[in-house]
Amino acid sequence: MTKHFSGNKPVNTCYALYYILCFSVLLLLSACQQPQLSERETKRLLSLSLLSLKAPNDPSNRYAHDPQAQQMGELLFFDTRLSNDNSVSCASCHIPELGFTDGLPRAEAQFNANDGYPPLRNTPTVVGSAWHTWQYWDGRRDSLWSQALTPIEAPTEMDGNRVAVTRLILGDNKYRQLYEKLFGPVAINEGDLQTLASPMGSQALKRNWYQLPKVLQSKINRVFSNTGKALAAYQTTLRPPETRFDRFAEKLASGDSYSGALSDLEYQGARLFVNEKKTQCLECHNGPLLSNGDFHNIGSANVSGDTIDLGRILGVQAVLIDEFNCHGRLSDAAANECLHLNFMSQNDFVHTQGGFKTPTLRNAANTAPYFHDGRFNTLEEVINQYVQTATVQQQTELRAFPLTKDEIEALVAFIGTLNTE
Ligand code: HEC
Ligand code: HEC
Repeated sequence: MTKHFSGNKPVNTCYALYYILCFSVLLLLSACQQPQLSERETKRLLSLSLLSLKAPNDPSNRYAHDPQAQQMGELLFFDTRLSNDNSVSCASCHIPELGFTDGLPRAEAQFNANDGYPPLRNTPTVVGSAWHTWQYWDGRRDSLWSQALTPIEAPTEMDGNRVAVTRLILGDNKYRQLYEKLFGPVAINEGDLQTLASPMGSQALKRNWYQLPKVLQSKINRVFSNTGKALAAYQTTLRPPETRFDRFAEKLASGDSYSGALSDLEYQGARLFVNEKKTQCLECHNGPLLSNGDFHNIGSANVSGDTIDLGRILGVQAVLIDEFNCHGRLSDAAANECLHLNFMSQNDFVHTQGGFKTPTLRNAANTAPYFHDGRFNTLEEVINQYVQTATVQQQTELRAFPLTKDEIEALVAFIGTLNTE
């Protein structure tokens, strides 16, 4: 019973397996090794990361960074008593669980829906809004605090008014305490606040407002504007959180190996995004919010068919007559700190007529639908639209940039790395 183990065959198989293993490890390693970024690409990608985000600055609101104002603003943001029938707060449309948006194409009118008011636009996030000078898709407000006053009095949004807001601040112990500590005593008798009134809103509210003595009007306006400044202070704390892209950028900045921090597709998308020969994205979606905060005509004013929205050109007129703008009496800014108003582009029709504010791309994958009218449901649809708009001759700022299906997929994957986790 001689057992012949020739030994030959198993050994051979072993070697073969060994080589195959080594070869596949090498293959895998080389596949993992993403192509090195050029200095130019590195610089551009770093400019998009939170490493480049400076502290927000609004000279028209001296309370923006005050922790007590932030605390008061947070209470107000979630307080339905700012609305006409105590049913709607800021957070009814800017829902924290939905990235401070509402997931709807257009915001739903909460009041007076059938009274002939134009439809509301898509609800943008308020995360990072403190880093923008212009608020709204058309920039009709030039600060976060003057913006906050607008939905409170908008007939379709909260349908409230400044007298009711003043009553709330004076009548609620917590608010009154916080308010007086921050802004000083309020010299208004509650008896003077019997009739609801506002220069915005219904004819009746307007009539009541112009019957109030000028001195009382200006006291009410002060309380109202300070309420806006507290709301703005809270929103100033809503800094965009760190994302996978930012962690990739940190590695890039520190000289650590960044290979593998993004998937191959995401990495390809990142490189495409900063390649101005292939895409134009960085011209408008730049800086750490991936938005220049400015207005651009990308041919989106009228492609949706039924409604034409002229966008920025009307926003320019509205911000100039806003009593709470940077030059207004209740602004904390010196005249020379309102250069954005003095030098804003007013007659440049290419950018203003049909121009909308470049939205941030941070957390965009989680905040569908897209565009000022919520016409697109997916990021693929948005980018497809770019490719089509740019190739058809239209009055738009877009250049022609043909992209393949794979390239569009890569850009979408890149935008996904900017998601809040
Ligand atoms: C009925 C829904 C609704 C309510 C309530 C509401 N908003 Fe909005 N918000 C919107 C919509 C819609 C827009 C965009 C409108 C536009 O551009 O014309 C917007 C825009 C904004 C913006 C500008 C963001 C940007 O990127 O331009 C800020 C900031 C904001 N809202 C804060 C608030 C605050 C603060 C409150 C409460 C005082 C509030 N909102 C109440 C729907 C709402
Ligand atoms: C000329 C300026 C400009 C260029 C170039 C540009 N965008 Fe935009 N982008 C905008 C403006 C303005 C809007 C909003 C349009 C609207 O609401 O009607 C927008 C909207 C978007 C949105 C929707 C975001 C949201 O929350 O609604 C995405 C996604 C987007 N752009 C991605 C890109 C990508 C990717 C590229 C490059 C392929 C690109 N953009 C090129 C200005 C630009």
